[in-house]
Amino acid sequence: MEEDEFDRWARELEQQMQREIENTYSSIVIREWLNPSNMGGMRDADAHARYTGPCGDTMELFLKIEGNTVTGASFLTDGCGATIACGSMLTKMISGEPVERVRGVTDAHLLEKLGGLPEENEHCATLAVNTLHLALKEWKEKT
Ligand code: FES
Repeated sequence: MEEDEFDRWARELEQQMQREIENTYSSIVIREWLNPSNMGGMRDADAHARYTGPCGDTMELFLKIEGNTVTGASFLTDGCGATIACGSMLTKMISGEPVERVRGVTDAHLLEKLGGLPEENEHCATLAVNTLHLALKEWKEKT
């Protein structure tokens, strides 16, 4: 394949992938996936959990908790783009919120904030929310 031909093929493939992503995911999911907030570890976290879902992907969540308020949150994941979007949106949703309110966060809340996910990706929201509840449980046990 000549270089021009290869470049054209690569560009068309990229455009096709982009169209497929746009047809599959909400614009919010795409934004959070491609430009995630709060992705990374946290050195002085007050709560931390690492959870592997049934799909084999893992999320790690770090929380800074002052008094009874979640003052910061960050995440790491080896999961799919939808999971990155879930971690990003979830950490934004809970930052600045009282722990009691954060305890009530469900995967349905997260899915609503993301403008939904395809059915085959809904478990990615469950993975993120389960990791959050595990972190809160561990925090409760040590305080
Ligand atoms: Fe496993 Fe998204 S596919 S968390």
